[in-house]
Amino acid sequence: MTDTSITIALSKGRILDETIPLLKEAGIEFVDDIKKSRKLVFPTTDPNVRLLIIRATDVPTYVQYGGADLGVTGKDVLMEHGGDGLYEPLDLNISRCRLMTAGVKGQEAPQGRLRVATKFVNLARRYYAAQGRQADIIKLYGAMELAPLLGLADEIVDIVDTGNTLKANGLEPRELIENISTRLVANRASVKMKHALLQPIIEKMGEAVEARRGVEA
Ligand code: ATP
Ligand code: PRP
Repeated sequence: MTDTSITIALSKGRILDETIPLLKEAGIEFVDDIKKSRKLVFPTTDPNVRLLIIRATDVPTYVQYGGADLGVTGKDVLMEHGGDGLYEPLDLNISRCRLMTAGVKGQEAPQGRLRVATKFVNLARRYYAAQGRQADIIKLYGAMELAPLLGLADEIVDIVDTGNTLKANGLEPRELIENISTRLVANRASVKMKHALLQPIIEKMGEAVEARRGVEA
């Protein structure tokens, strides 16, 4: 991309639905019907801005390597990625949830070495090490809740919102690892080279977030 244009990587799914109104308040709107389109790169009502719609887990990578100047993704995803090459200017306060450990209801975590199933392997490794607990981490790509039920693991590390998914599968939350929300991230080089273009977008999105906090309070 040239220095006069900006690429923003958005996470598809639940985050996208909540990001669209915030972008709108920053003057950035899709021109295509994204529900009908098979495109992955979208022009916007701002001729300087184009949007990518990709998996949440790919957003930090695109931004880190400069494929996108800005990105929108969950703090859980950023913690797992590690945040190399990324600057995090704004908490968008959307898609809020908690990152927790969980296990079979009524069953205590064993004292010795733990087996933990999760898709957040780096984050889980860091968490258990910081607690001084020995843990074997097993990578899963989904349906983590099954692992303790089938004896694959003693615990899982997963996202909890209402707690309904855990409950429906006979599990209960144990420890809170982190409160999670969606963040705006920026490529470190873009922040320096494209400051004049990025700053108004970050400011306007920040104002939209603050206006919503005011309504919530
Ligand atoms: P993918 O399907 O692309 O691998 P995913 O299933 O994690 O990713 P989503 O379920 O859309 O994608 O979740 C995207 C982000 O939304 C998560 O990284 C987390 O920050 C947040 N999130 C996940 N589940 C919930 C939830 N139940 N309530 C609120 N926020 C959530
Ligand atoms: C997410 C997450 C949990 C669930 C937690 O799954 O992976 O399973 O939400 O929410 P709850 O505490 O309100 O039940 P999602 O619904 O996004 O489905 P997914 O597994 O396909 O990502």
